[in-house]
Amino acid sequence: MSNLEELIQKVADLIRQSEKVIVFTGAGVSTESGIPDFRSPGGVWQKYNPEDFYYQKFISSEESREKYWKMSREFYEPLKNAQPNAAHRSIVELEKMGKLDCVITQNVDNLHQRAGNSPEKVIELHGTAISVSCLTCRKKYAREEIQSRLLRGVRVPKCDQCGGILKPDTVSFGQSMPPRETEEAFHRARNCDLMIVIGSSLAVQPAAAIPLEARESGAKLVIINRDPTYHDSYADVVIHGSAGEVMSKILNRLKGG
Ligand code: APR
Repeated sequence: MSNLEELIQKVADLIRQSEKVIVFTGAGVSTESGIPDFRSPGGVWQKYNPEDFYYQKFISSEESREKYWKMSREFYEPLKNAQPNAAHRSIVELEKMGKLDCVITQNVDNLHQRAGNSPEKVIELHGTAISVSCLTCRKKYAREEIQSRLLRGVRVPKCDQCGGILKPDTVSFGQSMPPRETEEAFHRARNCDLMIVIGSSLAVQPAAAIPLEARESGAKLVIINRDPTYHDSYADVVIHGSAGEVMSKILNRLKGG
């Protein structure tokens, strides 16, 4: 048995022995669906400077908002057309097996829900890119509607109701995390048997503290990521490889394949 096959077997055994599995995902779980991640070559922060996209900048100047919406318009296209991939489908299968306590995701692409995970089992730490809100009157818009305005040449969309600033319902750097989701994620991490990280560099806090919280509370920790992550040394099992391929092999092994 190759080293990879041994690791696949070990993760399958850990899932079999667990009642409450949490899957923690980052942008790397969606790259095989055509959505770029942030810190890999060609990722979002290789093309744009994250400094330009802090929340304080966004609300302080029209120029910053124009820069933000230009980037958002570009990256909404692959997101809008993206289909769930084998990694997302494997996580849905874990739910169907009754193994999945929840998915805690840093992603805003709604692909876990589109793949078939129950929405109430998906905790979105960084919000969602499929809706937009007015920061003044809180009126909500479908992101698709705002995209059509951007594609018609609107540079900084404004609220129809009050003229206020519109922003996608994602969490920007410098913006506070959603309190309910954050509290729920840490609480569930403290009470799971196994946490499987898929497709995250674990570079951003407080999200990256969640897998450590699970480990410190007695859970086993598995990291599946193409490149080394900041927390590989804390994991019981680390598999460096493709999310779709590795998760498919694990599910096949679980089903006796
Ligand atoms: N299979 C497995 N791993 C992959 C794949 C793949 N197909 N594609 C990319 N990866 C890995 C990369 O090796 C990388 O380490 O996914 C990781 C993605 O890391 P980041 O780009 O840093 O994304 P993420 O960890 O989700 O970033 C966290 O940072 O900018 C903020 O809010 C943004 O939610 C995001 C947060």
